[in-house]
Amino acid sequence: MRHSLTASILSHRDLGDAQFEMTVLAPAIARDARPGQFLQALYVGAGSPLMRRPFSVFRTDPEAGTLAIVYVARGAFTIGMSALRVGASISLVGPLGNSFEPDPRPDVRHMLVAGGVGAPPLYFLAREMVAAGHAPESICVINGARSRDLLVAGADFAAVGVTLRETTDDGSAGRRGTVADELSDQIAASGGCAVYACGPTPMLRAVASLCVEAGVSCRVSLETVMPCGLGVCMGCIIKLRNDAEPEGYTLVRSCHEGPIFDAAEVIW
Ligand SMILES: Cc1cc2nc3c(=O)[nH]c(=O)nc-3n(C[C@H](O)[C@H](O)[C@H](O)COP(=O)(O)OP(=O)(O)OC[C@H]3O[C@@H](n4cnc5c(N)ncnc54)[C@H](O)[C@@H]3O)c2cc1C
Ligand code: FES
Repeated sequence: MRHSLTASILSHRDLGDAQFEMTVLAPAIARDARPGQFLQALYVGAGSPLMRRPFSVFRTDPEAGTLAIVYVARGAFTIGMSALRVGASISLVGPLGNSFEPDPRPDVRHMLVAGGVGAPPLYFLAREMVAAGHAPESICVINGARSRDLLVAGADFAAVGVTLRETTDDGSAGRRGTVADELSDQIAASGGCAVYACGPTPMLRAVASLCVEAGVSCRVSLETVMPCGLGVCMGCIIKLRNDAEPEGYTLVRSCHEGPIFDAAEVIW
């Protein structure tokens, strides 16, 4: 169920390298949010943004009524947001969109593949899966970025106890290369795999193509630009393969029918 509320900021941590973790009091959203769902946020403050921006839910504590997001301050909206102090208010609409559901097949190896700020929803997924009884060793997180300082949530993944593989384009942390390079090796070494991925479009395209070729089930969360996030403006349309249509595809709203789709259906 979707809620629209004004949340009070309880903590706002500077994680370094322009990354921030903001925890807010938002009991209704904290109770209902599932891994992969997002919020549309708006605040009054520096720059006074006019349009909301989407942020994935990073973690929730339903008992305390709190939730957190992790974000990178990289443009006017997020730099302004990073200046908000504890006690300030932020307007949130959510939880929005669909969620990642763990593949129910027994003995499957769950591969969570994150690029940059694609990490927060996959951390939420890893945490929820372990809490629901999945063995941590059945979950492998591949977390990648251009360089060490751009890796997101590394320590959080490690704290959940899952297997963590890091990749950086420049080799400053983990394997030099991309998450797709590491995923390719992991798929070759594993029996059955299920892949869940979130990150920039070129990364998702590479992961999707690898999984389709290997016949591995793969769900991708798209970082489409979302002007409204509420299914109204049609600014987030993507194409899904559909052979029953004369054009061979169906148009869907990433914010409403997604943001998570079967990688084999997405037309990139
Ligand atoms: C479903 C979803 C979940 C997201 N979760 C996170 C998250 O957990 N943490 C995080 O740091 N970022 C997340 N993002 C991206 C985040 O919304 C953008 O980084 C943010 O909007 C950047 O805004 P800005 O004004 O600071 O930067 P800008 O300089 O305005 O934009 C920087 C980049 O952000 C993207 N962007 C801009 N406007 C939008 C928009 N309306 N919708 C989507 N992307 C936009 C574009 O790729 C742009 O190049 C998510 C995006 C989506 C679609
Ligand atoms: S962002 Fe407006 S319809 Fe999806």
